[in-house]
Amino acid sequence: MTAPGSWVPFRTLLKVTVCLLAIMTFSFLIHVSSRFPAAWQRLPSPNTMKGFPATPPATTPPTERGMWTVNSAGRLGNQMGEYATLYALAKMNGRQAYILPEMHWQLAPLFRITLPVIPGDMVQSVPWKDYELHDWMSEEYGHIEGKYVRLTGYPCSWTFYHHLRQEILQEFSFHDHVKEEANRYLAGLRGQRRNVTYVGVHVRRGDYIQEMAEHWKGVLADQAYLEKAMGYFRAKYQEPVFVVTSNGMEWCRENIDASRGGLHVLQY
Ligand SMILES: *[C@@H]1O[C@H](CO)[C@@H](O)[C@H](O)[C@H]1NC(C)=O
Repeated sequence: MTAPGSWVPFRTLLKVTVCLLAIMTFSFLIHVSSRFPAAWQRLPSPNTMKGFPATPPATTPPTERGMWTVNSAGRLGNQMGEYATLYALAKMNGRQAYILPEMHWQLAPLFRITLPVIPGDMVQSVPWKDYELHDWMSEEYGHIEGKYVRLTGYPCSWTFYHHLRQEILQEFSFHDHVKEEANRYLAGLRGQRRNVTYVGVHVRRGDYIQEMAEHWKGVLADQAYLEKAMGYFRAKYQEPVFVVTSNGMEWCRENIDASRGGLHVLQY
């Protein structure tokens, strides 16, 4: 009677041991295979950061879908426009979009972007075919040929990506720390006001004074325009707080009427 009894714990122990061994072997294999992915997974080498797309292309391996990118030109607004345009056109043409490291440096600190980044040492070795874009969507952009296309220009028109509005908004959602800092700042501006509506006013001057007249044949927002626009918000909201950002602060101080309060000016 005692003999079988003494065997039971041993057999149980054996089972548990075998089970544990199996689990450990299995997890070791998973670990190893994730460190040495299959060749097609390694080739385009999306960076090891969070940049890899949340939903990788379902069936086709990345190399099959090619590698599209866009030049990283201009400052923040241009970079955003280029990113969104690449995102939309690559998708439309069934290609995988990748951004250049320069674009990643500019956008990733602010936004929760998801496109993978081409490693710096690989950029030169890809046989890019440049494809110049003008600044609005065209029919032919739905059929761009080429596995390794680099879109060029300063595309930023909504016409490229408005059909993906939700996805683009998601790409340009701020990191929490950016939101928190902005909210802290705005809360500080509010002071004792109880029911405020923040109104951002972006007054671009600087290079645009020349550029707008000579290149775009347009006019800059002048004093009358800003006065009228701010009047609209003063009539609409109980306690508007205007937050002005500009690269022409002198001009703003002279031309925007601060006498009614609720005005805050920031330089960039
Ligand atoms: C706060 O202001 C908005 C307009 O800016 C107004 O519609 C709303 O009724 C106000 N709320 C309170 C509690 O005064």
